[in-house]
Amino acid sequence: MAREIQTIGVLTSGGDAPGMNAAIRAVVREGIAKGKKVKGIKRGYAGLLQEEIIDMKAQDVSDTIQRGGTILQTARCMEFTTPEGQELGAEICRKHGIDGIIVIGGDGSFKGAQKLAALGINTIAIPGTIDLDIACTEYTIGFDTAVNTAMDAIDKVRDTSTSHERCSIIEVMGRGAGYIALWCGIANGAEDILLPEKYDYDEQKLVDNIIANRKRGKKHHIIINAEGIGHSASMAKRIEAATGLETRATILGHMQRGGSPTCKDRVYASTMGAYAVDLLCEGKSNRVVGYRHGDYVDFDIDEALAMEKVLPEYQFQVCRNLSV
Ligand code: ADP
Ligand code: F6P
Repeated sequence: MAREIQTIGVLTSGGDAPGMNAAIRAVVREGIAKGKKVKGIKRGYAGLLQEEIIDMKAQDVSDTIQRGGTILQTARCMEFTTPEGQELGAEICRKHGIDGIIVIGGDGSFKGAQKLAALGINTIAIPGTIDLDIACTEYTIGFDTAVNTAMDAIDKVRDTSTSHERCSIIEVMGRGAGYIALWCGIANGAEDILLPEKYDYDEQKLVDNIIANRKRGKKHHIIINAEGIGHSASMAKRIEAATGLETRATILGHMQRGGSPTCKDRVYASTMGAYAVDLLCEGKSNRVVGYRHGDYVDFDIDEALAMEKVLPEYQFQVCRNLSV
């Protein structure tokens, strides 16, 4: 029978997301409550390879649940994508007595976790990304805060856009995934949404829609453009030339990744952090925590990475139908 784990390592990797601190806090406190030692690994896999490893006590996570960002810092690390880097990472875990590790990040980070598990370190991944682009789960840490931040900002742009009777293109985050754009499209009542999963490059259709809406008496035209499509400034110039309507572009950028996490992000991230510790204590490895149909669940990482996330067509149609 496998030896019970004694020491849990925790790291955050890839883009930061509001709520990561709530998850770290839960790992530390649930781990200690279960009689384990907990070590924080700074700067993701880069910090692991540099042995930036600190002991964590319950009070080290005091006053963090309400903070955005990640107290452990995060990074992207090319070296860890190589077999040599991964073997060194596993060796460093063993050197520091880390026999279980919790990785909080997106699907890139999950691939790193998968490699550590294959090298004998019990590994659990927690979905942490504002993009909501992980197939096995309906919730990822940070999306709720980010989408609310974007929604508030778009409301503000809409006020001034309506006052000046302009067209506004607002670019939200999401290089490969349009979830922030889709949710804001519905929540902000946008006239058009441009999503990487759906974009057809038909700018004339956009122009025709703006002109038709103006004829119907609309005083503004809000286009939410996902980062993956980008080029908002040049698109604004072309639209202004084609429609004769003043058009402005606003890129919301990294402000969407910061700020105090919402209640939902604090609660779900805390629960996922505790759940990940419980999985390690049960001797599990190579699992990813998810949230589906109202329950916290876990999947084999290999299976989770093979799943495909499909943008909900019904929600997309609702967005379009309600924007007339
Ligand atoms: P995210 O986790 O948000 O998807 P990235 O895709 O940038 O972010 O991945 C974060 C880090 O995870 C990378 O910098 C790298 O260290 C590690 N990683 C990504 N892909 C792999 C891989 N195929 N094998 C091992 N580690 C990986
Ligand atoms: O974390 C996800 C994300 O914010 C994406 O929406 C975006 O494309 C990317 O990260 C930006 O990353 P960077 O921090 O490198 O600019």
